[in-house]
Amino acid sequence: MCGIVGIIGYKPVSDRLVTGLRRLEYRGYDSAGIAVLDGQTILRRRAKGKIANLHDKLISDPIDGHSGIAHTRWATHGAPTEDNAHPHQAGRVAVVHNGIIENYAEIRDALAHRKFESETDTEVAAHLIDEALVNGATPRDAVASALAQFRGAYALGILIEGAEDEIFCARHGSPLAIGVGDGEMYLGSDAMALAPLTNKLIYLEEGDWAVLRKTSVEIFDKDDTPVERPVTVVAFTDEIADKGQYPHYMLKEIHEQPETLSRTLSHYLDPIEMRVDMPDGLDFAAIDRVIIVACGTAYYAGMVAKYMFEQIAGLAVDIDIASEFRYRDPVLSPKSLMIVVSQSGETADTLAALRYAKSFNLKTAALVNVMTSTMAREADIALPIKAGPEIGVASTKAFTSQTCALATLAVGAAFARGHIDADTAAAHCRDLATLPQRVVEALLCSDDIAQVAATLIDAKSIFFLGRGPMVPIALEGALKLKEISYIHAEGYAAGELKHGPIALIETGTPVIIIAPDDALFEKTVSNLQEVAARGARIILLTDAKGADAAKGLSKTIVTLPTATPLCAPIIQAIGQQLLAYHTAVTLGTDVDQPRNLAKSVTVE
Ligand code: F6R
Repeated sequence: MCGIVGIIGYKPVSDRLVTGLRRLEYRGYDSAGIAVLDGQTILRRRAKGKIANLHDKLISDPIDGHSGIAHTRWATHGAPTEDNAHPHQAGRVAVVHNGIIENYAEIRDALAHRKFESETDTEVAAHLIDEALVNGATPRDAVASALAQFRGAYALGILIEGAEDEIFCARHGSPLAIGVGDGEMYLGSDAMALAPLTNKLIYLEEGDWAVLRKTSVEIFDKDDTPVERPVTVVAFTDEIADKGQYPHYMLKEIHEQPETLSRTLSHYLDPIEMRVDMPDGLDFAAIDRVIIVACGTAYYAGMVAKYMFEQIAGLAVDIDIASEFRYRDPVLSPKSLMIVVSQSGETADTLAALRYAKSFNLKTAALVNVMTSTMAREADIALPIKAGPEIGVASTKAFTSQTCALATLAVGAAFARGHIDADTAAAHCRDLATLPQRVVEALLCSDDIAQVAATLIDAKSIFFLGRGPMVPIALEGALKLKEISYIHAEGYAAGELKHGPIALIETGTPVIIIAPDDALFEKTVSNLQEVAARGARIILLTDAKGADAAKGLSKTIVTLPTATPLCAPIIQAIGQQLLAYHTAVTLGTDVDQPRNLAKSVTVE
């Protein structure tokens, strides 16, 4: 949430700051701004809305300098207005911030004699530092004394008039990396922001703060003791994937799934031996329980995995929403393996859950898409999903790769625990290896699904029902639809509807039933009848056998490829992605950057 870039160097920075911001736009796009030091004076430009607006403003009213900080915002405190956009300035100090300064009201009260221009928590940081400067502190002492007063989470970039050769930064609870250049130093929320500038990164640790100069950096830990942090050379591509022939990143990412799933499978399966290549350090025979913790779509991938681990490996799985996990005093058995699932690897709640588990000495693994992320670095074992950069804010290919990677681990766990023999494990692997081709076939349903989507646009409310592993797919289908089309949607376990929500079914209410022909098919069909009897308009997403059996039960049947229980959740998820996408496009919403959302949620 919110992205930060900073540059201190020997040539103009404005254009490069904006380029860095564009690479961070996935972290929020409510407003954006930059501040540069032009000689001894801080100049600022800020704009409401996307970075393109800031770019236009800088063309009509340019500023530049050899050092600067920049920010793209996802609003927490204060509406997404220009006044609330970062950088915030007070006197000689400009600040960009990612996180929440929880005691900002207290600090603001203590600085009541000062004039505040925004409703943000961040502005207090600029005032607090400036107040110390006014009282005679050096820039370095002013920053250190302010940091000591903040509670909450922050990644900060600070520019000070009178300290033209320095940029200050600090990290506590929100990600921040320093980039090492040739005669320049950089600051960025992640490696991706700095990719065009450098691949040499210093990851700050919790509580660290630093003073950047053109050719050096001084780092202090939370006790203000000077420390050395290693320089990591990261491997990444400098390209932000473009949309290619597709009108939206989301559609491109949906269509990439045969390839992304092939990459996930190649990482976890040995294609010759047809067995799972168990990642180093992962010993499923040594544990008695898996705890999966995640948020949003990643949580639903974990929910699918619960069915797989329990059914195939006989291994108990607890699954929790990260924002709830650590606050409910979970009872943790020492023989548990904690797996956090996160596309970004930076989600604040999931990261906090990981740290909580580590504090109880649990073995931890992070299943992530971004291998340079904080979770990948902090977990005992980093497990890549290999989906490649996901730009669309609504997660698609990351979800299927997360689910696929977890499916391979469930098979590996089953074998490692002696729950299945080598032949059965090989059969599961062969089955999983067919996934990319089945996904190609599922994508061919796009036009049929677009026709169904066209009938949904006037709906007030849409229900998604499934049983077994199709429950998380129903929940994911509803989430995907609401986040990009803004139509109210709810996912339910099909058997649960009659315990309350069925009261909402009226004549014509669309109910999407996700029911491939599996062991629970007939039971789901009974639930279908229950809502049909109350006038619901049934849309059935199934497979060939299911479509045959359900003839006459619904006028709208979408037939996705037939798949085994291990592959079916992924195949059915593709149907849900396409349904959400086509509905949103028909409604004309901003598919890739839906309102109020951000790709990486780094606040609690
Ligand atoms: C929905 C979506 C979100 C994320 C959630 C967790 O399409 O993308 O629900 O899944 O914010 O994000 P990560 O996976 O980065 O931890």
